[in-house]
Amino acid sequence: MTGDLAKDEAIDSAAEGVEVIVHCAGTARGDEDKARHLARSASRAGVEHLVFISVVGAERIPVVSAVDRALFGYFASKLAAERVVADSGVPWTTLRATQFYDLILKTARQMAKMPLIPTPGFRFQPVDTGEVAARLVELALSAPAGLVPDLAGPRVYEIAELLRGYLQARGKRRPLMPVRIPGRAARAVRSGANLAPDGAVGRKTWEEFLGEQIGSSSGRRAASSAG
Ligand SMILES: NC(=O)c1ccc[n+]([C@@H]2O[C@H](COP(=O)([O-])OP(=O)(O)OC[C@H]3O[C@@H](n4cnc5c(N)ncnc54)[C@H](OP(=O)(O)O)[C@@H]3O)[C@@H](O)[C@H]2O)c1
Repeated sequence: MTGDLAKDEAIDSAAEGVEVIVHCAGTARGDEDKARHLARSASRAGVEHLVFISVVGAERIPVVSAVDRALFGYFASKLAAERVVADSGVPWTTLRATQFYDLILKTARQMAKMPLIPTPGFRFQPVDTGEVAARLVELALSAPAGLVPDLAGPRVYEIAELLRGYLQARGKRRPLMPVRIPGRAARAVRSGANLAPDGAVGRKTWEEFLGEQIGSSSGRRAASSAG
């Protein structure tokens, strides 16, 4: 069955007869509306448990200025969607996770196309997508629990470290250029609002992930240089 949460198409029929919904659909913008459409259909259908995946830092990253909105609007959109889920009347569970390795890899691939890579002074604590999926399954099979503890990867990395790991695994060289992004949201991220030191339960490291994705010999090269 195919539906469109943004356009609110075929969501009622998709929710019909369903006991548990794990809501993973998301984009860079507009997750509040998608959540509203899903929550309304879930409520009408008498769904017993709505599980939502959000992002670590959603409540700590202020999105105020135009720069904040352009670069960090995603965090505000996830927070708004969280509130829709919590106010839906459907018993719910929300898990906030840090950035997935898949996203970091996709971003690193794009950035490596540039001759000079700008590196804002951000840190990340990325996590394996499979580990997030496993936790969502566990939550979906349990009773609704509200906002549960954050899920993050085992290590905090400077952005430059993540990029160097990727470049090394691919056998590439690129100069990195530190840049400073203005705004309150960027300041919050610089101070670690996107990290979850208490949620470092993920086991797979960036180097292990790279080894799987890019090849075992290059992954070992990145792992040994990181380690
Ligand atoms: N990636 C991260 O680092 C990260 C970190 C924390 C939380 N999250 C959250 O985790 C969830 C999954 O993230 P992801 O990176 O795995 O996303 P993704 O690969 O981009 O997948 C998003 C999914 O949402 C579906 N979708 C998008 N718009 C839709 C719409 N209007 N109606 C129905 N389905 C729609 C897409 O379907 P189509 O393929 O058909 O377009 C796709 O299956 C998102 O809610 C995201 O905010 C992600």
